This record gives sequence, C-alpha cells and structure tokens, in this order.
Amino acid sequence: MPLESRPLGRGFAREIVGLRLWESQDEGTIDELRALWAAHPVLVFRRQALSEDELAAFSARFGPLERTVRTDWASPARSEVTLISNLKDAQANPIGGLGDGELQWHSDQSYMMQPATGAMLYALELPPEGGRTYWVDLAAAYAGLPDRLKRAIDGKRGIFSYVKRLAGYQGVDRVISEEAKRQTPPVLHPLAHTHPVTGKKALYLDWTTTIGIEGMDEASGQALLDEIYEAATRPEFVYRHDWQIGDALLWDNGFTMHRREPFDPAARRLLKRTTMFLSCDRHIVPEGILAAAD
Ligand code: SIN
Repeated sequence: MPLESRPLGRGFAREIVGLRLWESQDEGTIDELRALWAAHPVLVFRRQALSEDELAAFSARFGPLERTVRTDWASPARSEVTLISNLKDAQANPIGGLGDGELQWHSDQSYMMQPATGAMLYALELPPEGGRTYWVDLAAAYAGLPDRLKRAIDGKRGIFSYVKRLAGYQGVDRVISEEAKRQTPPVLHPLAHTHPVTGKKALYLDWTTTIGIEGMDEASGQALLDEIYEAATRPEFVYRHDWQIGDALLWDNGFTMHRREPFDPAARRLLKRTTMFLSCDRHIVPEGILAAAD
C-alpha cells in the first residue's frame, strides 16, 4: 500500500502519516520515502517513540551516519546521535549543544569539505513557547531569483567558515577542540547546484557561515550574498514547524536552510539529531575544496 502523506504549510514540507519508525521498514517503503524526499526536502513523522538505536537505524537507511566534529554534543550512549538541548548535567555542564538562543539561517555541516547533508531531528522535551524551527526551500528560492542574481552567482563558489559559525553561538558552544579546528578549515562550495532527481536548480547557502565569494573582494562578495539571502528567505519559501513531542523530521540540507527561534532559558528543550552522508546520485551533495590561505 502506498505511503499516506499530506502537504504541510506551503507544500514543500510533507507529513508522512502512520509510519512507526521504531519498526524496521521494508525496502519498498524506504524507496517511496526517498522519492518523496527528492521533491519535499522536509518530511515530518509525528507521534514517534524512538530509542537512540532506533533513531540511528532509521536514519542510516538513507546513508552512512556521521560522527560530527562536535563530539562534545554527542550522546554518551550512541556517538552518532547529537543532543540538541539547553539542559545541564549535575555538574551544570551542558548535556548537548545549541542552548536556548536564536539560530540564524544555516545548513548543517556546510563548513565541511564533504558535508553530511541528510539530517533527522527528534523531539523529546519542548518549551511551552518559542523554539520553533523554520526551513526554507532553496530550489523554490533559486527559481524565484531575478535573472540578474542568477547570472551573478553562476559558476561562483561561496567561502564557508566554521570560525564565523562559532562566533554566533553562545557560551561554551563557541569553544572547540584543536582536532575540531583542524577538521574545519574554510572551504569553498558552489552557490548553486542541480538536483539529480528533479533536475531543479537550487541555492546552497548558510548565512551563519559564508564569509565571502571566491574571486570577489570582501565588500562586493558580501553585498551579493546579502542580496541573495534576502531574496532566498522570503516568507513564501519558508515552512514553520511547530514542534510536538514525538515529532521526527528528516530534511535535506543540500537545498534547504533552517533557523530556530530562541526560547526561555528556564524551560526544558531536548531533541536528538543524526546526520547522514547522502548519495550524490539522489541528492545535492556539495563537493567542497579548501579555500586558499590569505
Ligand atoms: C539545528 O540547527 O540542527 C537545531 C535546530 C533546532 O534546535 O530546532
């Protein structure tokens, strides 16, 4: 029986109805999900009850799991699961990353040479207000760009820097190990790609991480990026997710960005995230190169 699904928001996000992700899914179901995912970069599964092993097992059906450079945010029980939380342990140390502050438009792992572009986020504890997450469809955003901007970025690569990303974080999230620094030099990624399944062109962007455009002076590169970000994040390209406990979201960072509202630091929020290396046969997977040293 084909999967039941329904559009959410303006339609690029889709809810998959009735799948119990803690159960093993047959290959036909995974193939259907893959086909839906190509056209709908955000898939929502509600009312889930997943152990870390079950979350990891379902995620891994779409590609090998990544252990991110933020080993300090990893679950002690399962290192491929990252804890996104403002909760603290008995010694008042954060149990995970990203705290309670606002997160601006970004694409996970864009600072890596070969980003793991698949991601899944599963909600366990939520604040009564705030902390909603928004996704923007960067294929629709590309289609909506004026021809002048399409031409301006044609063949251009953005410079993606984890140092810039870190500066936007709060507190201890800004501090990374020497090993993590070594793994995150500035990299270049093309600013536009073609989706291998749909044939649609899409932007590849990360407002929190791009510091310029290869071959352009700093001011002109920044001015062009500012114009692109403004055009790409218009409300008609955005889906807002109002989290419920038990929601699991699968999204493709290859042609989306997401952002999060801040929330009351005294409230509790705990989500668990996996990231997957997706195949370039089915997904936009930016192949980065090292940025030239200054
Ligand atoms: C993330 O950017 O991966 C986390 C988003 C969220 O906390 O809602």
